[in-house]
Amino acid sequence: MLRRFTVSMEEDLLDDFDSYIKDRNYQNRSEALRDLIRSRTVEKQWQADNDVMGVISLVYDHHQHKLQEKVTELQHDFHSQIISTTHVHMDHNNCLEVIIVRGKAGDVRQLANNLSALRGVRNANLSMSSTGKDLH
Ligand code: NI
Repeated sequence: MLRRFTVSMEEDLLDDFDSYIKDRNYQNRSEALRDLIRSRTVEKQWQADNDVMGVISLVYDHHQHKLQEKVTELQHDFHSQIISTTHVHMDHNNCLEVIIVRGKAGDVRQLANNLSALRGVRNANLSMSSTGKDLH
């Protein structure tokens, strides 16, 4: 059920908010505000080491010595946190790997950190989400 409430803020801040809304193509202020609140709530769950879901994406050069092996080995160490992994051969050198994860926030973050620390990993990104039961 949607409930309505009134928010007061300085005109400058509201102008900033409205240009933020315009940049992101939100239909109205309510939807933008809901998303902002959701993202802060998710952050809190991740800080509290709750059960979370997320996506780790990494780009690496598969010619780097033993890197492919290490990426696989690490994922086996965290097999109970990994739901699915997709590998895309981007070009002659680079691979993109997208890993869907679920588990304690601390474990998932640890996996992402360990992957990103591997030599030859060019870009590792963890996008955090909440588990479905917490989503409204
Ligand atoms: Ni590849």
